Formats: sequence, C-alpha cells, structure tokens
Amino acid sequence: MKNNNLQLSSEGKLKHFLSIEGLNHSILSDILDTAESFTSVTERSIKKVPILRGKTVANLFFEASTRTRSTFELAAQRLSADILNLNIDTSAAVKGESLLDTLHNLEAMQIDMFVIRHQDSGSAHFFAQHVNPGVSVLNAGDGQHAHPTQAMLDMFTIRRHKHQFENLTVAIVGDIKHSRVARSQIHALNLLNTGQVRVVAPPTLLPEQAETLGVQVYHKLNKGLKDVDVVIMLRLQKERMTGALLPSEKEYFRQYGLTAERLKLAKADAIVMHPGPANRGIEIESSVMDGNQSVILQQVTYGIAVRMAVMSMIVSGAVESS
Ligand code: NCD
Repeated sequence: MKNNNLQLSSEGKLKHFLSIEGLNHSILSDILDTAESFTSVTERSIKKVPILRGKTVANLFFEASTRTRSTFELAAQRLSADILNLNIDTSAAVKGESLLDTLHNLEAMQIDMFVIRHQDSGSAHFFAQHVNPGVSVLNAGDGQHAHPTQAMLDMFTIRRHKHQFENLTVAIVGDIKHSRVARSQIHALNLLNTGQVRVVAPPTLLPEQAETLGVQVYHKLNKGLKDVDVVIMLRLQKERMTGALLPSEKEYFRQYGLTAERLKLAKADAIVMHPGPANRGIEIESSVMDGNQSVILQQVTYGIAVRMAVMSMIVSGAVESS
C-alpha cells in the first residue's frame, strides 16, 4: 500500500505523531484502547513497564509548557526510556544555531524519539522530514497548527465519561482562531464520528471559513451551550493576537465566560473541559472550574496514559517494519 503520509509506514503503522489530519478512525481508536490499558499502569504502586527500555527520548520545548512537558516526561519514564530534557533557554539555540543543526547534533547523541514544541507551525513536520530513518518525532504543539496528543487525551476523557461519540454534541468555546488544540480536537472529533461539533466564538476569534472544518458556528454562548454533552473552554491566546480582537477581558467574560448559571443550559450531566492553562474569571468562572462537572484535572492525569500509548505504538510500529 502506497501512502504519502509522513506519519504512517507503508503498513499503516504510526511512525511519527504530527497531526490528527492524515490519520484514520482505526489509529485513533487504537490510541484510545492502548491508553486504557496504560491507565492501570499509572494507577499501581510500581508505575513502570519496559516497552521503551534502552530508548532515549529528547524533550525539546521552545515554548512554555507545564502539563504537556511534564506528562511527556512521566510517560517516557513509565515506559522505562531514558529522557533528555533540553533546556532551550540555556541551549545553543539562543546563540543562533539553526533548528536543523540542533537536530543533527542531538541525533549524534543517538536519540530515538523527539518530542517537540515550537512556536512555528510546521516545525514538527520539518523535523520529521529531516530525522534519520527509525527516529520518530512527536508534535507537542506547533504554532497555531496542531497539538495532537492534547486532542487525544481530550478524546480519551470524553470517551471515559460518555462511552461513545456518535450521539454527542460537543461545544468548543473561545479563541478558536489561535488554538492548535481546537484544530486538532475538531479533526479528532470528526474522525471519531461525533454527532455534532460546535464552535462558539466572536467572529474575530474564528478562523476564516470555520464551517469548512466540519463544525457548526455559533456567535452566542447561550445558544451554543444549549443541550450539549461536552463543553471545552479555551484560553484567549493573547500572545498570538495581532491588533485588537477583543473589546476587554471583562466584556469577553460577560459574553463568553462560562458561569455556573450558563452551564445550566447544557445537559444536566455535561462535562466541562479545558486544556489549560486556564484563566479564571476570563473564560471560566472559578466555581465552574472547581465544580463537580469539571473534568479538567482528569484530563491532565489521562495525558500520561495517552502519551504512553502513542509512544508505545510508535515503537511497536518500528519493530514490525524493521
Ligand atoms: C495549550 C497549548 O500550549 O497549546 N496548552 C496545553 O498544551 N495544555 C493551550 C494554550 O496554550 O492555551
């Protein structure tokens, strides 16, 4: 079988994990099922399995991160990999070394897997095009483009609570335009045949022709929340905004902030999610964030099992195709 997809081997196995686009229903389901089996590993007192023993994973974070970086590190450790955390602020990248030179130097240290977060869209694909055969690249967020492991841990959280996707209505609320998380979530929800995917945002915070992504567009939060099963709130990504796209944070909260009162418009058993970092009082009221419908901290926990799943599938794909 011939395919031009950088992420999949000719046998359809995962080689790199760069974006949800280009993957298929069966790979996404495999990731969710494999992650399910790893949740038991993360819950026991000795949290290690030897799947990545002898392999070296390098974490390259050119942008700030709390959850993604730590859970990738824990995932690699729980699979028994050696892990190298490159501190970019003190690395030669700040002395002007190109990304490609940094890559080649790290490859000279026999790294097997790169986890990369970078401010430029396309940087993970660029890495994947240039690594040696047998070396894998996992995208931990590239510019506004994609954040596929975040999307998969979100899908895992939804499946854990709702058990299926076909009959669900999911609303993604907030700064869709600048959000790599939203883009990856929309692709994943659609590949998993979610009943209805809504995006709720002011026109200035929506990508052009948002409908072509396979979503229903809402500009009013009250309408967008009506009878949904899942609400995903997003941060205002101010560092990516050029010019004034918003009146003020106070006004934004008034129109788009998720309050306990508004949440009542969703189904009574709706879950509230947020990829983090959350800004209390701007996109979400504190009482909702800490309330009993919030699964925000579970998302963080599941991030470990999902990242373990992706890494282990890449390693087993590499074994089978060698
Ligand atoms: C997000 C990111 O960095 O893309 N956070 C995350 O990885 N959990 C979302 C954001 O920055 O708002």
